[in-house]
Amino acid sequence: MISKSHLVKKVFDSVADHYNIMNDVMSFGLHRVWKKRMVSTMHVNQNCKLLDVAGGTGDVALQVIEKEPTTSVTVCDINYQMLRNGRDNAINKNKLSLQWCCADAEYLPFNDYQFDYYTIAFGIRNVSNRKKALQEAYRVLKPGGKFICLEFAPMHYQNKIFTKLYDLYSFNIIPKMGKLIAKDEESYKYLVESIRQFPTQLQFKNEIEEVGFTNTSFCNMSCGIAALYLGYKTLF
Ligand SMILES: C[S@@+](CC[C@H](N)C(=O)[O-])C[C@H]1O[C@@H](n2cnc3c(N)ncnc32)[C@H](O)[C@@H]1O
Repeated sequence: MISKSHLVKKVFDSVADHYNIMNDVMSFGLHRVWKKRMVSTMHVNQNCKLLDVAGGTGDVALQVIEKEPTTSVTVCDINYQMLRNGRDNAINKNKLSLQWCCADAEYLPFNDYQFDYYTIAFGIRNVSNRKKALQEAYRVLKPGGKFICLEFAPMHYQNKIFTKLYDLYSFNIIPKMGKLIAKDEESYKYLVESIRQFPTQLQFKNEIEEVGFTNTSFCNMSCGIAALYLGYKTLF
């Protein structure tokens, strides 16, 4: 049987070239609004160091440096194709200050206490060992550093009609769009199924606390389709 990390690599190798357009089409552009909200929770300045893990094509990173161009932003992702497309796109936009690093969220190649912010958008559900990735997030943050995670929620608790429509869209329409645009139906089936397997908002908030983060919270966005999680590394 193929391991989760191999499957995830295969999925993102396959979708990398159509990733940005598929995101816009699938979410009707909503992912940009969610990411904007994520970036609005940061108070970045020229002394800030931010690590965007599973940063893919650098969407979040670009929004951060648009807000504050002097912030030091490193985009880290396990998939070289995603990073390469992101780097090329950033160069085309003349955003040359971003740093790009190909690495696994479970084994970050950074020393302890390096970053003021650790962000991860739509990435945590793809890592094989979530606890290890969260421990790494905690390790690389400075004391008082902020953990910010954006992720789809499994929608177990929504009203029945909304859930039915959302399921219909997710399981029937998204894979077909994947087939049409990215020429890959199976990868989009995986992406949709992985959302349903992700813990509920409360369960994931508990997981964040289990590795040491304090003052944790989450807020639902767009009727709970996605959720934004926050947590802080303790000061001492
Ligand atoms: C859905 S994309 C999100 C990309 C970007 N954050 C965004 O919101 O547009 C998920 C990303 O997670 C990356 N990823 C999956 N497993 C990873 C891991 N163990 N370590 C680092 N990145 C990983 C994939 O390569 C992919 O680029």
